[in-house]
Amino acid sequence: MRPAELIRKLRHRSPLHIASAALRFARGYVISCLRFERRALVSVRGRLRIFMRDGTISVGDMTDLWPGVKLSCQGRGGVDRARIRIGRNCSIGDRTEIHAGRLVDIGHGAIIAWDCVIMDRDYHSTDNGPEPVRPVTIGSGVWIGCRAMVLKGVTVGEGAVVAAGAVVTKDVAPFTLVAGNPARAVKRVAGWRKDRPSLAISRKT
Ligand SMILES: CC(C)(COP(=O)(O)OP(=O)(O)OC[C@H]1O[C@@H](n2cnc3c(N)ncnc32)[C@H](O)[C@@H]1OP(=O)(O)O)[C@@H](O)C(=O)NCCC(=O)NCCS
Repeated sequence: MRPAELIRKLRHRSPLHIASAALRFARGYVISCLRFERRALVSVRGRLRIFMRDGTISVGDMTDLWPGVKLSCQGRGGVDRARIRIGRNCSIGDRTEIHAGRLVDIGHGAIIAWDCVIMDRDYHSTDNGPEPVRPVTIGSGVWIGCRAMVLKGVTVGEGAVVAAGAVVTKDVAPFTLVAGNPARAVKRVAGWRKDRPSLAISRKT
């Protein structure tokens, strides 16, 4: 949604609703100035937990961060910086956690429900070696159901849907529904588009 569309939409809302929207966008704007890579009109509801070391976070305009979202972006110093990139018009649900040791890249118009975990790292290793860290890419217009997890190295293709509770360990083809643990392809889908920009929109903020 563009700022002009937002204003058109708010015209039919109560003054209280408009005031609370203004407050959360004002708060998000200040947070983006202080903590993110670039300024943006972000809606921040309730508590936002940011853990950042040797990393950068960017969040696109009109993205909605629901209460309790955690953004952990912790690189290993030097060139090994971590990045979290969230596109425009996304919604990140309550208590959802995003952990980046290198890169978690979320495209425009993605909807991520509550209590999800997206991580490009394991924090420990299964063979006593160095911690494996592999970038995660979530395409534009992806919808991730509640309590789903997307693990290191995964690319979820544009317009794909991840069912509630799925644990995604392998790439997901565009416009495909995956479900279960480990997640498997269930069927082709048309994608999630309501109130969202065309998936053809160019990438990145
Ligand atoms: C992803 C989802 C929307 C798919 O709905 P749908 O298109 O109507 O899919 P269907 O119900 O036809 O399910 C298709 C198949 O996938 C299976 N399936 C669907 N969701 C599943 C899940 N969460 N875990 C495991 N299997 C699942 C169904 O059992 C069915 O299997 P079958 O073909 O063997 O019978 C829905 O399953 C879901 O996860 N809903 C929760 C959405 C959510 O978290 N919303 C939060 C707000 S953003």
